[in-house]
Amino acid sequence: MTVATSAQLSLALPRSRRVSFGSPALPPNLLVRGDARDVLAAQAPGSLDVIYIDPPFATGRTQRGRAGAYDDRAPLGDFLPWLAERLRLAHRALADTGSLLLHLDYRAVHHARVELERIFLPARGLMVNEIVWAYSVGGKGPRAFGRKHDTILWFARSPRYAFFPDAVRVPRRPGSHMRVKLDEAGAPIQEKTDRKTGRVYRYPVAAGKVPEDVWTDIETLNRSDRERTGWPSQKPERLLTRLLGATCPPGGRVGDVFVGSGTTAVVAQRLGFGFVCGDASADAVAVAEARITRAARDSVATGPKVPDLVLATL
Ligand SMILES: C[S@@+](CC[C@H](N)C(=O)[O-])C[C@H]1O[C@@H](n2cnc3c(N)ncnc32)[C@H](O)[C@@H]1O
Repeated sequence: MTVATSAQLSLALPRSRRVSFGSPALPPNLLVRGDARDVLAAQAPGSLDVIYIDPPFATGRTQRGRAGAYDDRAPLGDFLPWLAERLRLAHRALADTGSLLLHLDYRAVHHARVELERIFLPARGLMVNEIVWAYSVGGKGPRAFGRKHDTILWFARSPRYAFFPDAVRVPRRPGSHMRVKLDEAGAPIQEKTDRKTGRVYRYPVAAGKVPEDVWTDIETLNRSDRERTGWPSQKPERLLTRLLGATCPPGGRVGDVFVGSGTTAVVAQRLGFGFVCGDASADAVAVAEARITRAARDSVATGPKVPDLVLATL
């Protein structure tokens, strides 16, 4: 893992200011206003442990919210080469143990997977998971089944990729095909017997389980959600908590160059990861700065030290 020092950061970013949260010796986090391509190109090769990318989805519409808007009108034929250029730069910025998490929906995800295979597979990389994030909030059309899932493609830079499944365990569901019994100590366990081998599998209920690749237990934000900032397409913090918790090593550094309202940044900060985040929109960066600053001040008030935030424009 490579951590940029504050001296390196200010050398690279002449137009910057710093918000202090009282721990100037910690390597600062970075929030940049700029095109994703330029923010990624400015990162040292191999310097990021996880990159989460939640770009425009090729919806063909301008996406609007109370706090601002962004352009998502590019046709697929223009969108794909635009995205591919940024994915190549993301691949270059990843550590050998690093992961890229690309969040899209049914419109472009299959094309993007082909691009990612072109970039990652010849360089010893691999696809780890195609994660389906299913939710129920939002409208449904009368002429099709409701389109109620996004897809997150997880590609690893190499077979040495980091994975921390125990950091993201979820409660075991009651009412599964497995019988619930009490073990010798009286604690509930789920038990199943393999019909072919006769082998008995026993899972302590209290330990929870590692989620599978279809996530139905994280709802998307509703209109009155307390997390809501008014930025369009804001993602829930629980989603980023699971993604980053499972893929970023302790003290690692996360990148998100389409950060919008700052969800990735506040989650990374809370989990003790460093971050390099950016967005092309000045409105998004203002929303993200306010959110990161509020979360940092709350955190400092209750104990943990928080790195300073360097704001820059590329
Ligand atoms: C789907 S939203 C991200 C939402 C974010 N994950 C959140 O939770 O708030 C996509 C973001 O990409 C930004 N964007 C669009 N084109 C960009 C570009 N070329 N470089 C950087 N950001 C861009 C938009 O301003 C928007 O904030």
